[in-house]
Amino acid sequence: MSYQGSFRVWRGDDQSGGLVDYRVEVNEGEVVLDIIHRLQATQAPDLAVRWNCKAGKCGSCSAEINGKPRLLCMTRMSTFTEDETITVTPLRTFPVEKDLVTDVSFNYEKSREIPAFAPPEGVAPGDYRMSQWDVERSQEFRKCIECFLCQDVCHVVRDHEDNKQHFAGPRFLMRITELDMHPLDAADRREAARTEHGIGWCNITKCCTEVCPEHIKITDNALIPLKERVADRYYDPIVWLGNKIRRR
Ligand code: SF4
Ligand code: F3S
Ligand code: FES
Repeated sequence: MSYQGSFRVWRGDDQSGGLVDYRVEVNEGEVVLDIIHRLQATQAPDLAVRWNCKAGKCGSCSAEINGKPRLLCMTRMSTFTEDETITVTPLRTFPVEKDLVTDVSFNYEKSREIPAFAPPEGVAPGDYRMSQWDVERSQEFRKCIECFLCQDVCHVVRDHEDNKQHFAGPRFLMRITELDMHPLDAADRREAARTEHGIGWCNITKCCTEVCPEHIKITDNALIPLKERVADRYYDPIVWLGNKIRRR
């Protein structure tokens, strides 16, 4: 069974743009990305959209549907009514390149600011040993497909361009947590988490967790534990004393 659906798609570039109305055929079982592809094929051949796997695994097709950050390929048309107008816009937090494609290099810059896994000296890769519990704990974080929906929704940068310089965003604070929890990582991650990557700016709104397509408990399992670790490091009198003595 098919019907003509109403869509409003943002068209434009880094200079100007606006919403354009379209009527597009919708068939049973389709997702929003199918509609965008039909729109390209039948009415708007120059419409720019980024996608790759159409299976919710590459993280490329991130956009906003009715103002909410979503993967276009994982948003079923059956979740809308036939008379609803569906608005598709680019991620708001990143600069637009063209139509639904944004420049997400902010995220790659933040990624590069985090030093890589640093094993202790003298332990060769084949000799790494860690408990199953530690393996499982970081496994959740490694499900991340780098769709950057969490980065897009977080109000710390969504509404405040100036904050981008001082805030890594939930995806990369989660990466720091993963490394800090790794029993073989010898680097001190906590000082940088506080001073360079802005963990203190997160006020636990949990919007990042709500939009994550991999259902990673970003706030509860990464951001809150990182806040606690940073607090332990700086404000726990025993840890503080230990650090002072060690530094001598
Ligand atoms: Fe996407 Fe979730 Fe990874 Fe954020 S943590 S980039 S929302 S998969
Ligand atoms: Fe932002 Fe997530 Fe914290 S949305 S404020 S990073 S809980
Ligand atoms: Fe790969 Fe949507 S196309 S996640």
